Amino acid sequence: MSNELQPNVSVREALQSLRWENDALSLLDQRLLPEQTVYLRLTTPQDVWEAIRELKVRGAPAIGIAAAYGVVLGVADFDGNLSAWLAETEKHAAYLATSRPTAVNLFWALDRMKARARDLASADISSSAATAALLDEALLIQAEDEETNRRIGEHALTLFEDGMGVLTHCNAGGLATAKYGTALAPFYLALEQGISLKVFADETRPVLQGARLTAFELQQAGVDVTLICDNMAGHVMSKGWIQAVIVGTDRVAANGDVANKIGTYSVAVLAKAHGIPFYVACPLSTIDLSTPTGADIPIEERHGDEVAAGFGKRTAPHGVAIYNPAFDITPNEYVTAIVTEKGIVRAPYAENLGKLFDR
Ligand code: MRU
Repeated sequence: MSNELQPNVSVREALQSLRWENDALSLLDQRLLPEQTVYLRLTTPQDVWEAIRELKVRGAPAIGIAAAYGVVLGVADFDGNLSAWLAETEKHAAYLATSRPTAVNLFWALDRMKARARDLASADISSSAATAALLDEALLIQAEDEETNRRIGEHALTLFEDGMGVLTHCNAGGLATAKYGTALAPFYLALEQGISLKVFADETRPVLQGARLTAFELQQAGVDVTLICDNMAGHVMSKGWIQAVIVGTDRVAANGDVANKIGTYSVAVLAKAHGIPFYVACPLSTIDLSTPTGADIPIEERHGDEVAAGFGKRTAPHGVAIYNPAFDITPNEYVTAIVTEKGIVRAPYAENLGKLFDR
């Protein structure tokens, strides 16, 4: 399909993954994309937990934001003293933390909400005023994510030149964040600035975030995107069509090992074999200095039906053994640079990642 025929919706009009609306969390059900655009109205922490677990909302920053709103929903009708209010917020935060294990942004956002709740509980205010202030914190986390991603995009764009082919895996776009995305942010900024990039999106088995979400949101925005199956990445690299790879991440360990969607490691190895730089884009909230190496990052395993019967069609025999890890670890030696809102970090990561957090 030529670019002229593609819908050219500006990034400002792009679908929003989630927003606080009428005392509830309005959340785009990403399982239904690209065919249906359905916003769910979530009113309880249980609704939010289930939405995260079932990938109605997914992507590291987006699940952190959703969980922050989930804590607010847990005390929305609370009427009592502030120490009981604080205990409630902590209970809901602990529950929401069990929804998915790998993306550290979930725990980062919940820790931030717990810290704010502790501050509020020591103030001389009513529990309803404390809840209103806690909602402000969740709204701030979302607003900051948008600003952070734009800055990540500005830094990442300095790595690309007009005419380059860039490959990405999974979805680290606006749908995975408040806006712009991390790995996809430079593509939106390139579009704004008239810089032409040719994006290749891996379809990303088994849940097809690349096909259903990345191809969808980039096409909607008018970015030049070509969808490929995961097993075509080596082929397009060998043809000389790819000058850089950029992906998002769910957690960066202190030594620079990177957890991201299953298949990322294979792409990184292929990139190294072809002499192609492999970039990782993320906010500081994804960097976890308390996790020493990739081996210490918990990797979520999901139901085998995602592999054997994805999207309602059985594609493997009943009863076959299935291994379905949702993420893999890319060792730091494959990572050319990590792009954050504070700038671009290169090896030695064990030394340089920590400097990002210096005041
Ligand atoms: O299982 P998902 O869809 O939540 O996995 C998402 C990813 O792996 C993304 O690349 C990562 O969260 C970065 S999103 C900016």
